[in-house]
Amino acid sequence: MTFSTATAIAHPNIALIKYWGNRDDEIRLPQNGSISFNLEELTTRTMVTFDSSLPRDIFDLNSTRQSGAPLERVSRHLNLIRGIRGFSTPAHIMSETNFSAGTGLASSAAAFAALTLAAVRAAGIEMPEKDLSRLARRGSGSAARSIPAGFVEWYRGTNDNESFAASIAPPEHWHLADCIAIVDEKPKVTGSSEGHQLARTSPIQSARVIDTERRLELCRLAIEERDFDALAAIVELDSNLLHAVTMTSNPAVFYWQPATLDIMRAVTTWRKTGIPCCFSVDAGPNVHVICESSASEVVTAKLNAIPGVHTVLKCHPGGGVQLI
Ligand code: PMV
Repeated sequence: MTFSTATAIAHPNIALIKYWGNRDDEIRLPQNGSISFNLEELTTRTMVTFDSSLPRDIFDLNSTRQSGAPLERVSRHLNLIRGIRGFSTPAHIMSETNFSAGTGLASSAAAFAALTLAAVRAAGIEMPEKDLSRLARRGSGSAARSIPAGFVEWYRGTNDNESFAASIAPPEHWHLADCIAIVDEKPKVTGSSEGHQLARTSPIQSARVIDTERRLELCRLAIEERDFDALAAIVELDSNLLHAVTMTSNPAVFYWQPATLDIMRAVTTWRKTGIPCCFSVDAGPNVHVICESSASEVVTAKLNAIPGVHTVLKCHPGGGVQLI
């Protein structure tokens, strides 16, 4: 191969039932299954060009040349794909995100979903969605869920072959919105790869993992029946369980800022007054306020009035990874 190129776009996703901790860190086999939906308005667009005239891989993210750990992680992922076809041609990877400007939402999910599809196609490989999802999982666990469209479940599986994500409902199944309250724009101190490794040091983690099948079932049912109150109860419990684990890991990790807790408290109060909204917090301080789409304007206005909220991004359930 001398020269071949492909471009893909992918969206990050918000987990309703979260992934935290691996059975196998190397191939990112998760401790538990998870459910999410893709965020249509946020995109990562990645072009991969295999070019035999290059001395080594080059990775540009939002027009800035990358080196060190980010470049190595991308190169390692490309090696998996080069390995499938048995070639070693270096690549130029150009990635652009539309949410780079200080949102603190560094999303490896969209990044590795787009990278996987672009690299696979640039390498001339045809692959079913299931295998794209398994491969994306190797770059970043949650990337497995950014491959299929809409509402997605990532099956825990018992081995590499069984651990992939599939769509459980199309994006238009339920008109939800995710109003993301940005309270801190700095990259997180403890990245999720490190967080997954710490999870096993928490005495709470085993209880959280054992209970996951029950939460997954309640979440699937809430989605199927578009039952917002049922969704809110299970989403908030699941988010709190993840943070109970991080706070009781060794060393303990506190992802929340004071404003994070202010928003969580406000959201539960709003729900009691009849606004269909609930919170979910990933490995960072920003708060995803998931609501019925019809409530998104009032939720956004209320969030903007909370001290410490810098900005609110409004997203809707979105499609899967696509070639362009
Ligand atoms: O895919 P990772 O390693 O960035 O892990 C994602 C972890 C959470 O965002 C906290 C939860 C999830 O399921 O997305």
